[in-house]
Amino acid sequence: MNRLATTFTGLEFDNPFVLASAPPTESKRKILKAFEAGWGGVVTKTIGLHPVENVAGPKTIFQRTSDVKPYVSRNKRQDTVSHSSWNWELISDQPLELWLPDLEEIKTTYPDRMLIASIMAGAGSEEEMENWRKLARACVNVGCDAIELNMSCPHMDRKDMGANIANDEDIIRDILNAVTSSVSVPIWVKLKPATSTLVAAAGAAYDAGAASISLCNTFPSLPLMDPETMKFEVEVDGLVTSGGLGGLAILHQALQRVSDISKAYPAGAISGIGGIRGFREAFNFIVHGAGNLQVCTAAMEEKGSGGVGVKLIQELKNDLNDYMERKGHASIDEFRGVARERIVEHSQVRRKSDAYNGGYDIAS
Ligand SMILES: Cc1cc2nc3c(=O)[nH]c(=O)nc-3n(C[C@H](O)[C@H](O)[C@H](O)COP(=O)(O)O)c2cc1C
Repeated sequence: MNRLATTFTGLEFDNPFVLASAPPTESKRKILKAFEAGWGGVVTKTIGLHPVENVAGPKTIFQRTSDVKPYVSRNKRQDTVSHSSWNWELISDQPLELWLPDLEEIKTTYPDRMLIASIMAGAGSEEEMENWRKLARACVNVGCDAIELNMSCPHMDRKDMGANIANDEDIIRDILNAVTSSVSVPIWVKLKPATSTLVAAAGAAYDAGAASISLCNTFPSLPLMDPETMKFEVEVDGLVTSGGLGGLAILHQALQRVSDISKAYPAGAISGIGGIRGFREAFNFIVHGAGNLQVCTAAMEEKGSGGVGVKLIQELKNDLNDYMERKGHASIDEFRGVARERIVEHSQVRRKSDAYNGGYDIAS
């Protein structure tokens, strides 16, 4: 019996663990290695049609901390543990024409694993809507099982792309209408987490036909400046810009965002992302309502696995399976969402006395 098998957005996953759209899924070689290692699915590094050129320096750093001197830094020190990744990498610079034969080969080699193509185009014109359609059709024609719409990349210059358009409900509907009318596979939508309008945006996406919301992309953030050298820990010619924080440091914020959506739309599917390093983090996303789990930073950090988390996926699968066996669960659906009703308004939590009315005077 495979307790880890899950049906998510109508797709059969061998296990709920998926490599997120990022360097671990940037090439055919890495994706094949990931499937060989046991990942249930991958979301490809985002594929687009516009010109892409990355900064002339490191695109990602891994920040660590320790309790000896608990500062966060990318600098190598003894006895440190992972804190976060910080990146300012753009979407894939491999053109669509080169991706297509790769995607076809991957799907033919691993027909039972789920291949989700992440795509991104612009907004505000029929031409851009056609770009979304073109990307979606091309990827589905070569065998992709689902499409993830990237409306969340936090470092796009173009004002009509990525996180810049996320959460504009009209744009979300337009893009979903364009894509759902051109392909018939499930459409996942990756929204920008760091905003007060996320719940409404998710509602617009579900309403316009999104099969699932993927949350979270990285959170906008700056790298740290070293007091001795007066340099940022990552910079080009002394300059830096807002980049994305991922890894353990975003776990709690990501859970809050997943919970917000899960409470507002309990029937809506959610693919949980942000800070998953092992079973306990994955478990927490599931109890807040996620039916699928994506991982990036922890896979990139694993040494000796080519950045696809070979040991990590074994650990995730073994630890989740052991837990389910011990608790007698046949499927993650048996405990998915159990935390939902336990997240309440502050005033609904019991006080030591009854003389509290949520900060308002008690009516006499
Ligand atoms: C170097 C790097 C590149 C990324 N590129 C993409 C991308 O092209 N498309 C996308 O949707 N998300 C991208 N992400 C975001 C990840 O898919 C993921 O949402 C985020 O890192 C949070 O997960 P984690 O805490 O497991 O790293 C990238 C993340 C990193 C670290």
